Parts: sequence; C-alpha cells; structure tokens
Amino acid sequence: MKKTNKFGRRGWTPDRISSLEGKTYVITGANSGAGFEATRILLKKGASVIMMNRSIDKSNVAISELHREFGRDAKVSLVVLDLASLQSVREAAVNLLGKTSQIDALICNAAIAQIAKKALTIDGFESQLGVNHLGHFLLCSLLFECIEKSSGRIVMVGSQGYKMGEKRIRFEDINYEQDYTAWNSYAQSKLAQMIFGYELQRRVAAARKEVVVQVCHPGASRTNLINETASLRDRILSRTILPLIAQSAERGAWPEVMCATEEELESQKFYGPTKRAETVGPVGECSLDPCALDEEAAKELWALSEEKVGYKWSI
Ligand SMILES: NC(=O)c1ccc[n+]([C@@H]2O[C@H](COP(=O)([O-])OP(=O)(O)OC[C@H]3O[C@@H](n4cnc5c(N)ncnc54)[C@H](OP(=O)(O)O)[C@@H]3O)[C@@H](O)[C@H]2O)c1
Repeated sequence: MKKTNKFGRRGWTPDRISSLEGKTYVITGANSGAGFEATRILLKKGASVIMMNRSIDKSNVAISELHREFGRDAKVSLVVLDLASLQSVREAAVNLLGKTSQIDALICNAAIAQIAKKALTIDGFESQLGVNHLGHFLLCSLLFECIEKSSGRIVMVGSQGYKMGEKRIRFEDINYEQDYTAWNSYAQSKLAQMIFGYELQRRVAAARKEVVVQVCHPGASRTNLINETASLRDRILSRTILPLIAQSAERGAWPEVMCATEEELESQKFYGPTKRAETVGPVGECSLDPCALDEEAAKELWALSEEKVGYKWSI
C-alpha cells in the first residue's frame, strides 16, 4: 500500500528546522559525503558540530571549507576516531566527553562499503562489520550516558543494501570465512546496524529512557563511498551509472538530519528518500523488511556484539 508522506508532497526538508543554537551534534565520518553535508546543514542552523573522523588531513580540508562558508567562528571541531580499532573508539569517546557534556544527537554515519578483497580490522573483525556495526556499537554504548543526560538521540544510518544480501546475520560465520563477497558482507554490516538500532529503540522504550533512536538511509547519493577498495566493476559502475541515477550528497544527508532534529517521527520505522525504489526524492517513511525487526536475531546480535567489543550495556 502506498504511504502518504506526512511532511507533504516535497517530503521533509531542512526548512522545517528553526534554530539549533545551543545544540551539539556529533557525526562520525563527517569529512565527506552525507556526513559532511549534514554538518553543513546543522551549522547553517546555528548548531555546534563535533566531527569524529579517522583522517586529520581530510578533516582539516573539510573544516577549512566550512570556515570559508560560515566564517572562522563556525562551531565545528574534530575528535579523531578510527572505527576499525576498538582502542581508538575508547580513546575517542574519552576525548569527546572531555570536550562536551552535551550530545543532542550522535549520528552514526561513517561506513566503508564494497570491500572487494576481504580485510580484517585491527581487532580481527571482517572490516565492514567491524567498522560499520561493531565500532558504532561500542561508541554508542560509551556515549549513551551523556546522550541520556542530554535527552538526546542516536541516529543509525543504514542502507537499502540491508535487504540485498542474505537478509540475515551469519551467526555461524560472522566474519565470512566462507563464501565472502563484498556485497553480502556490506549488506550484513548494514543489516546489523539496523537490527541494533531497532533493538536499542525497544530497550530504551522498555527502560523509559529519555533517548530517541531513529534509523534512516540516504538512498543513492553521489559520495565517496565506492573507492579504490571496491572491485573494478563496482568502481566503473559508481563512476558511470550511479551519477546518472543518484541524488546529491546534500539530499542524501537530509534523512539523517531529519532523524536528529524532527519531532514528528515514530518508532520501528525506516526513513529516507521515497521515490524510484526509495533511492531518491522526497524524504519520508520507507518500507521496512521484517529481517530488520527480527527480535530473536536482535538479542543474539546484541549479546555477540557485547562479547566482541568487550562492553556490557546496563540497558
Ligand atoms: N552513498 C550512497 O549511495 C549510500 C547508499 C546507502 C547507504 N549509504 C550510507 O551513508 C553513510 C555515509 O556514507 P557516504 O555515502 O557519505 O560515503 P563517504 O563519502 O565515503 O563517507 C563515509 C565517511 O566514513 C568515514 N569512515 C570510513 N571508515 C572509517 C573508520 N574506520 N573510522 C571512521 N570513519 C570512517 C570516511 O572517512 P574517510 O574519508 O577517511 O574514508 C568518510 O568520512 C554510510 O553509512 C553509508 O553506508 C550511502
């Protein structure tokens, strides 16, 4: 059944945001693509943004661009974070909490995708699962108390790719020792992020915590996601076909900004562009495959993630 968009024909746009003066947003992977564009939108509305990026050089370039646009007083800063290292995640959380006692939203945006040749993180996890899910899982747990004190939000940036792989978590072979493909392992990592997001939403509601959790996706957006680590075929596709069918990185940022700021959102929903198989167009509620809401898988994934990152949540 076709859904009507509660934000009207144009869908949600940043025009719905009034002032964000006094608010602090934390975005992972904000030097590029949707994360960078989300930073621009939030700064334009008067917020402070703390980027959590892995590259100091790329971050300096991004911050210089933002200073050119918004002036030297633009409230943007950097905490170095490499999601491929649990030690880096722990250090980054400490550094972040030393900089701010307020997090109005943590946007889990950073990701790697389509890694053609299987790689492992420093801690020995298949790289996409390690960076996209396990790194963010630990970061969310370490920042949760601060987010709760701020009555803040956690925004999980998923992907329509979650339902294009095996549509399940390979608990028996989480690292893809068998039959590794770039696509299936990316799909697993995004599904894991989404299952985690919806499980956190349920746990927060059950514990009556003052934290909002939302899950979204940017559709198909022109960003740097497919790069030299992808196969030649995927790189060619991303340079030839994708630019023709994808939307701008700025439009790709709208769902995550919406989930970080908008009041009129519901639980157990998936937000993103709603046209052309939900890859572009007006932002609103998208369809959601039941595999992302599987509560049994969520419990198993939660326990496994706690064990892998060595942190037990009290929620
Ligand atoms: N673009 C699309 O069509 C599309 C479609 C579906 C979902 N998504 C999702 O959208 C989100 C944003 O991606 P994007 O498309 O904007 O791609 P992007 O331009 O490549 O941005 C990804 C960001 O993540 C950072 N990152 C990668 N590995 C990291 C690590 N180990 N530690 C910390 N940061 C790391 C990157 O840093 P570096 O610059 O240092 O690499 C970059 O800042 C991702 O969650 C992605 O899965 C995108």
